[in-house]
Amino acid sequence: MDHFQYQNGQLMAENVPLSQIAAEVGTPVYVYSTATLERHFRVFSEAFEGLDALVCFAVKANSNLAVLKTLARAGAGADVVSLGELTRALRAGIPGDKIVFSGVGKTRGEMRAALEAGIKQFNVESEAELEALSHVAGQMGRIAPVSVRVNPDVDAKTHEKISTGKSENKFGIAWQKVDAVYARIMELENLEAVGVDLHIGSQLTDLAPFREAFERVLTLVKDLRTKGHNIQHIDLGGGLGIPYDPSAATPPQPSAYGAMVREVLQGLDCSIILEPGRMIAGNAGLLLTKMLYEKQGENRVFYILDAAMNDLSRPAMYDAYHGIVPVKEAQDSETVKADFVGPVCESSDVFAKQRETTPLEAGDLVAIKSAGAYGAVMASTYNSRPLVPEVLVSGNKYAVIRPRQSLEELLSLDDIPSWLSEED
Ligand code: LLP
Repeated sequence: MDHFQYQNGQLMAENVPLSQIAAEVGTPVYVYSTATLERHFRVFSEAFEGLDALVCFAVKANSNLAVLKTLARAGAGADVVSLGELTRALRAGIPGDKIVFSGVGKTRGEMRAALEAGIKQFNVESEAELEALSHVAGQMGRIAPVSVRVNPDVDAKTHEKISTGKSENKFGIAWQKVDAVYARIMELENLEAVGVDLHIGSQLTDLAPFREAFERVLTLVKDLRTKGHNIQHIDLGGGLGIPYDPSAATPPQPSAYGAMVREVLQGLDCSIILEPGRMIAGNAGLLLTKMLYEKQGENRVFYILDAAMNDLSRPAMYDAYHGIVPVKEAQDSETVKADFVGPVCESSDVFAKQRETTPLEAGDLVAIKSAGAYGAVMASTYNSRPLVPEVLVSGNKYAVIRPRQSLEELLSLDDIPSWLSEED
């Protein structure tokens, strides 16, 4: 459930009309709902009540400091994959001991900063990274807590570009090598194996692949313990899907996911870490945009929006479905089919093809739904389009939590070398 509902014919973000935000901040603009973020975090956490569980929000899904602070206050930890994300998490008040560091290419500088911050664990993805981390920790006189990200070789049955747990993916350490890697950790003085980690993919709509992977890990943990490794926690990663397309299969509820985890891991005496991103932030945000023009093609009508693939790239990158609804509630049931497109000069700049919608006119506001995760964070300035602003609503108030980038700011990132600026 989210807090974007119609009231008196107007789509609201909690108690703030989206039309007001459009008038005052302009479009396109990302709008997030505090109540929805908090609700999703609570519902997800409650699914693991009674277990020793730490919910680390995957910062990559939405890294705005205000969003992170909202979640930090609700008790969230963070899953980070770069120095930038680590710095954001710390700046938002998430304590180091609630931060896990994932990712296949951590630099030594990133390792140093994370050790300095006293993070809970490094999710290590290769033997080479292990050696580097041991070296850095040694130089600092520290012991780095590590979990090995294992690749359980299961098919997550999600979009190819967001599947991570198959042997052909770059992620994790192959099942057959895991034993040797843990043995090596034992040899290295500055590392301590504290857990096991996995993440098999994103937007999973079925619990079966999770179950299969978790069962494999359960066996692994038992085995590692018999070999003397003090495995204290299992990091189960993120990946729980959210409803984007009402005509597609409904993803499992967090409670069902929690029940499955409980069942598989019962009696193991292990704490768990979870890294949800999309589940928390996805439906807590939308991209508010204005229709610029209607264009009649030969056999279809195009609704041209002021938002584009550079602002929200999911449809172009993953053929992702996003609901698109008018801000002014439709008065009658008449519908048409239209292609919702952006102004960028690429054929893939399409938010929806042949989508059934109420008829719209130039100037109408529309909301592209489920854009709170992997929306603003993946935006670019392609076509020299400045980054769009982000707004956080709470009850009947709202704040701009990232202003619209000005053209001057965008252009000032470039430099003209002296040999070009000299008068000739
Ligand atoms: N943990 C790790 C190690 C991850 O790689 C990811 C996502 C997550 C947690 C969070 O997964 P979630 O709960 O959000 O599914 N840009 C793509 C999604 C890429 C996901 C990458 N990793 C999209 O827009 O669909």
